[in-house]
Amino acid sequence: MRRVLLVTAAVLLAAAPLAACSRQDGANPVRSLVKIGGPFSLIDMNGRPVSEKSLLGKPTAIFFGFTYCPEVCPTTLTDMTAWLKALGPDADKLNAVFVSVDPERDTPEQLRLYLSNFDPRIQGFTGTPEAVAKAAKAYRVYYQKVPQDGGGYTIDHSSSVYLFDAKGQFVEPIAYQAPPDRALSQLRDLLSR
Ligand code: NI
Repeated sequence: MRRVLLVTAAVLLAAAPLAACSRQDGANPVRSLVKIGGPFSLIDMNGRPVSEKSLLGKPTAIFFGFTYCPEVCPTTLTDMTAWLKALGPDADKLNAVFVSVDPERDTPEQLRLYLSNFDPRIQGFTGTPEAVAKAAKAYRVYYQKVPQDGGGYTIDHSSSVYLFDAKGQFVEPIAYQAPPDRALSQLRDLLSR
């Protein structure tokens, strides 16, 4: 019983800094206690199957969101675009991935259209609702549909970018709206591992 409670507490602590879409979140102080990342089975912007194995061999910066997001996702993708530009040719040594938590609306075509606004190296993944839920669970990503007045919905979701090494081991998060110098130094550290 005690063990179960401790595990639950660790999961809750890990989830706590992952604030809703409109809020900031900080670095995760307990990341070493909780496994982040795991198997997933999604499709890319061309409808081709992708899994966690597709990301091995290069470090990865991965972020979960949705294309109808009013603020957090466009902000983060704009930041990511600036990071990739600042990294120059080294950016080619990184997987930059945006995973939809809105599979109902985010078809591969919609992802392709939306991501054409940002750095072309950013890949978009989506999938069935079940596959997306499984991926989000593996990555300890919180997301919750919120109905809007007059119909429709938005989605609250975790806002950190997660960094993984080339072997798929979680390294650390980049906090939402991290100062550009801080984010770049995290990415350069990741690429030099
Ligand atoms: Ni968002």
